[in-house]
Amino acid sequence: MKSAKSVVVLTGAGISAESGVPTFRGNEGLWKKFKPEELANFDAFIKNPELVWEWYKYRKQIIAGIQPNPGHYAIVELEKMYEKFAVVTQNVDNLHRRAGSKNVYELHGNIQRNYCIECGKEYPDEIIFSKAEVPRCDACAGLIRPGVVWFGEMLPADQWNASEEAASSADVFFSVGTSAVVYPAASLPYIAKRNGALVVEVNPETTPLTDIADEFLMGKSGEILPELVNALK
Ligand code: OAD
Repeated sequence: MKSAKSVVVLTGAGISAESGVPTFRGNEGLWKKFKPEELANFDAFIKNPELVWEWYKYRKQIIAGIQPNPGHYAIVELEKMYEKFAVVTQNVDNLHRRAGSKNVYELHGNIQRNYCIECGKEYPDEIIFSKAEVPRCDACAGLIRPGVVWFGEMLPADQWNASEEAASSADVFFSVGTSAVVYPAASLPYIAKRNGALVVEVNPETTPLTDIADEFLMGKSGEILPELVNALK
């Protein structure tokens, strides 16, 4: 790691677990209580925008009330150590930017964004929370939706292309707090490995990636990443 020039950190819900954001899978996972197909896809939204908005307002409120944790801050420290560095996140919680990370690619959007499905006009959260009913666009009366990527939707092309390029040229690639099962994000460590990167996984549990990872650091990211930064310093 000391001689690496280019480092990429892929993160998932686990990096935010110690901030109090529930993960999707695992024992405390959200998908145990809600079916993703009922909530996180466009057809479900059109059929039942009230339910989908109720769910996203609930998640927005959780995220607004929490803070980045030592895992996020350790990634900020890592960024300062390398010439080329990228955080590729599947999270929509904005905690990497709030912690101070600069080069962040958001593969699944950002929950603080909201936009009209008809004309694309953007709306801040205050407008969403000021309405008890389903929010509609003041320009064209279209439905306003959360700015996250749903199942069956394409990832934002610019974010994906930049992430793929970063993974291809990484010397060290970290996979942190992700169950590594949702594609295409889950393909990034394989792309990195094929191009010669050292692949390091940080997770309290094994995942489908563990077998091909060069190093598996078992534990919480909020504990392991600060230790790693200290060791590098
Ligand atoms: P998951 O909920 O699938 O996985 C969370 C991972 O974090 C698990 O492997 C846990 O073992 C691990 N974990 C839990 N606590 C941790 C801690 N303190 N430190 C480190 N790791 C910890 O979340 P993702 O892999 O992010 O997509 O899920 C990927 C995508 O699936 C999400 O972005 C979301 C969901 O469907 C969309 O909504 C499009």
